[in-house]
Amino acid sequence: MKIRVFSSPQSAGLYASSLLEEAILTLEQPVLGLATGSTVIACYAALRGLVWCGLDLSKTVTINLDEYIGLPPLHPQSYHYFMEDTLFRDLPSRPKEMYIPNGMAANLDVECDRYDSIIHKYPIDVQLLGIGVNGHIGFNEPSHSLFSRTHVVHLTPETISVNARFFDRVEDVPKRALTMGVQSILQARKIILMAFGKGKADAVAKAVQGEVRTDLPASMLQFHRDVTWILDTESASALPRNVWGGHSILSEMTP
Ligand code: GLP
Repeated sequence: MKIRVFSSPQSAGLYASSLLEEAILTLEQPVLGLATGSTVIACYAALRGLVWCGLDLSKTVTINLDEYIGLPPLHPQSYHYFMEDTLFRDLPSRPKEMYIPNGMAANLDVECDRYDSIIHKYPIDVQLLGIGVNGHIGFNEPSHSLFSRTHVVHLTPETISVNARFFDRVEDVPKRALTMGVQSILQARKIILMAFGKGKADAVAKAVQGEVRTDLPASMLQFHRDVTWILDTESASALPRNVWGGHSILSEMTP
């Protein structure tokens, strides 16, 4: 595992976007697993900049991690809307195929099977992840067991209250979501996990160094051999300094 600590979300986002760019430039048909949430916005902003500078997305396939159940694609808090709004809107080149689970599907079991067949058809080269304050990845919530494949998840009260900041009222936050399973995430060739802020420090330290536990889903990433943790100094603050060197990138390079 690699841990890279940055002094600002902007510089961390630039670094994350450069890892995605490398995959886009070097692979014949790059398949990117994409995430939502405030953390990845810095990466998407930088990636948009690269596309405006000529990076071609037209051979790329994108597969998103998750979606709320019951929010139509045009709802401003749906992850369909988030992806258009923060990454794809008005770009000079768009991915050739883009997939996000359909949270409005009449039959959710059929939708889960459909999504798994997409992941099977397009094995993910690089999976971008955020992390919940409770250690969730995608919407794989802490539990006594974890699902390997795409499934319906009942969001924990903690996740509902954390995500309520994006909705008018906490009652408006959907209680269920569709999420890619942990096995699908771990099958990606490379994983990039981004986390910023003090609120994530505990989950990050436990996931990087603690026991592998189903009640801290991000700890499963210890089983993967190519994970890059992209942190800021606050989200890295509960990790012993010898784990990441104790020097944030860029703050050390800036006079
Ligand atoms: C949501 C998403 C996760 C994301 C998490 C962190 O719950 N389903 O994929 O990692 O939020 O969000 P944020 O980056 O806003 O802290």
